[in-house]
Amino acid sequence: MTKMTGYENVLSPRGLPLNLRRLSGELPKAALEIGFGNGEYTVKWAAANPDTLLMGVEVSFASLTRCARRIAEMGLSNLKVICVDARFMMKELFADEAFDQVMMNFPCPWPKTRHAKRRVTARVFTDGLAAVLKTGGLFELVTDEGWYAEEAFETLSRHEAFASAAVEVGVSRSVTTKYERKWLAMGKDITRLTAVKAKKFTVDRETWGFDWSEGDMPLHMKTGKPAPDGFAFLRGESGARGEARWVFKECYAASENGKKFLVETVSTDDGFEQRYYLQVSERGGDSLVKPDSATRIFLTPSVRFAVEDLARRLADAASRS
Ligand SMILES: C[S@@+](CC[C@H](N)C(=O)[O-])C[C@H]1O[C@@H](n2cnc3c(N)ncnc32)[C@H](O)[C@@H]1O
Repeated sequence: MTKMTGYENVLSPRGLPLNLRRLSGELPKAALEIGFGNGEYTVKWAAANPDTLLMGVEVSFASLTRCARRIAEMGLSNLKVICVDARFMMKELFADEAFDQVMMNFPCPWPKTRHAKRRVTARVFTDGLAAVLKTGGLFELVTDEGWYAEEAFETLSRHEAFASAAVEVGVSRSVTTKYERKWLAMGKDITRLTAVKAKKFTVDRETWGFDWSEGDMPLHMKTGKPAPDGFAFLRGESGARGEARWVFKECYAASENGKKFLVETVSTDDGFEQRYYLQVSERGGDSLVKPDSATRIFLTPSVRFAVEDLARRLADAASRS
């Protein structure tokens, strides 16, 4: 039997929304944990709930790696993890009414006012949560910061999709997280917020609507011109449209005959950043621009705009030369 590495359970961002039924092998329930950290709590939760597919979303790749190791040690198949920023991607990854339960253990509280957009209480987060949670499903947030739980309580109580929210102070749990033990050792109280979704709710998805099947990558653009002689003029060029921003960083030759180039690109959608390569290849006097096939990215609006912008700039440069 092949030894498990844990990486079998790490998902790459393709085929959105994720098909939870296929991923779980038809388990009857699904739950989501956001910001699982080292995954200690996560693997214990998954092992104790074998009838549930647990999806873990974490923005830190180092944390994801630690969790993957734990998954392998415990031989879990009902826990899948993915490295993304939940604020922007939760709603893109999952369909409406996907989860029976959504959990957050000790989210970063972001106490500074200028960071308030990063809190769970930001509308972009609560709307995504309201969409992906099942009607009747439970949201649970555990924190050492009483004010944070109160703020989330106020926000969810006002949200049209949530009927009842409650806050308990001084909670004691049988399974604890790394941060929980740290705060308990410092004598802090643990506060739990719970909220039940009472009404259906939906949100717009930016990345849906593509045909993601292999070999049918929708983001191809031809320039109608040969590749320009050099690509240095692209370095530092940037663009913006709505909430989308992109910048072309470096250009690398990817073939000896000068017919293929990679353009390192960074783009953001409302602050959600992705770094990737766009490939330019010339054949028969025409150039094709597309995301490099080794690149694993979400096809957000900024990526589409970057492809269009690059194709336009290349066509202009080729016309000038
Ligand atoms: C204070 S730690 C708590 C970790 C773990 N839940 C625990 O209790 O030990 C907060 C975690 O949330 C993750 N995180 C912060 N913002 C996030 C986001 N927008 N999406 C996904 N994960 C996020 C961080 O990388 C970090 O691992």
